[in-house]
Amino acid sequence: MSLTSDNHRAAASDSTPLDRFGRGLRDLRISLTDRCNFRCGYCMPRHLFGASHAFLPRRELLSFEEIERLAGLFARLGVRKLRLTGGEPLLRRDLPVLVKRLAGLPGIEDISLTTNGALLDTAYARALAGAGLRRITVSLDALDDDLFRQINDVGFPVATVLAAIDHAAQAGLTPVKVNVVLRKGVNESQILPLAEYFRGTGVVLRFIEYMDVGGAADWQRPAVVTADQIIERIGQRWPLEPLPASQPGETARRFRYADGQGEVGVIASVSQPFCGGCTRARLSAIGELYTCLFASRGMDLREPLRAGASDDALLALISGRWVSRDDRYSELRGRVRRGDDAQPVNMSYIGG
Ligand code: GTP
Ligand code: 5AD
Ligand code: SF4
Ligand code: SF4
Repeated sequence: MSLTSDNHRAAASDSTPLDRFGRGLRDLRISLTDRCNFRCGYCMPRHLFGASHAFLPRRELLSFEEIERLAGLFARLGVRKLRLTGGEPLLRRDLPVLVKRLAGLPGIEDISLTTNGALLDTAYARALAGAGLRRITVSLDALDDDLFRQINDVGFPVATVLAAIDHAAQAGLTPVKVNVVLRKGVNESQILPLAEYFRGTGVVLRFIEYMDVGGAADWQRPAVVTADQIIERIGQRWPLEPLPASQPGETARRFRYADGQGEVGVIASVSQPFCGGCTRARLSAIGELYTCLFASRGMDLREPLRAGASDDALLALISGRWVSRDDRYSELRGRVRRGDDAQPVNMSYIGG
């Protein structure tokens, strides 16, 4: 069998630079905007993201052409999965146009998107699926309408987000995942109602331990509801059995309901960090490469890109940064203190 130029390229790119702990570069999370239509207190609190906050001006953002070019270079270095994030990525106009371009890149096997669901109607979901989006993850921290409105702090009704989850499923963006950030004393009450609501629907519910990322200014260890506590609570009501990881380096620990009503997951980034298998890079909306969610600085790729750097020069920059990577913040949490000048970048800026 002869190799066509396309699968030759794909075969050649199976090699990936390894960082200082031997981790390859397999996933790229692309933030499309630093804006969001919600004001969740742990991410974009109103006192910091009010009328006077300077969001990035349009010209600062990478264009679709620039994102496509960079994503293509990452794919040549071994990236197989892309995730579009924000802020709120659905605020970016003509998003299906970008998805279509990314879906056509050699080597890319999976494109997914993380959204708050507020803008996801049937037509938008269909357009994204038609463009080549494979999966959607919706953030949803409560089922109770009053509590949900309080948490998003813009009074947004939960019913619209629940409808968005249905639209995504009907458009085939499956399995739809639902991410719940749990905070002690805030939305612990929602564990069982959410589990009950999504059991048996095919939607994969995942509870995330509250992390001390940028934006979570009030984070304290006691505010974390641990994965074991969550699993125990659900398991007492509906017995659970652990499932093997579905992919290497997976963030979630998965469980199945013993009565066959589907699965539920926990993302234990605080109590059981998963840095050892972390193959994730992040690209900010203005083209900085971050090698960890908790990094305080990224490497500017936009400047060389706009100055006309060649593909080879950009590939060398990216892989040079990756091979020197030694990030494992979640494993070191509590053992290292950040200096005052080393504030981690905000989650709404770098994406979840
Ligand atoms: P898929 O399994 O491909 O669906 O994606 P995923 O498991 O990466 O899930 P998703 O992108 O929805 O991430 C879920 C949450 O896990 C994020 O919102 C973060 O809170 C957390 N998370 C994701 N990646 C990392 C990471 O690299 N480090 C840490 N500490 N947390 C992460
Ligand atoms: N801890 C854990 N997850 C967080 N997210 C935002 N802030 C935090 C935090 N401090 C999640 C959101 C969403 C994704 C973009 O990141 O809930 O699922
Ligand atoms: Fe927006 Fe998500 Fe941050 Fe809430 S957590 S403010 S929905 S980006
Ligand atoms: Fe990866 Fe950093 Fe998260 Fe660890 S803390 S899993 S290195 S992004």
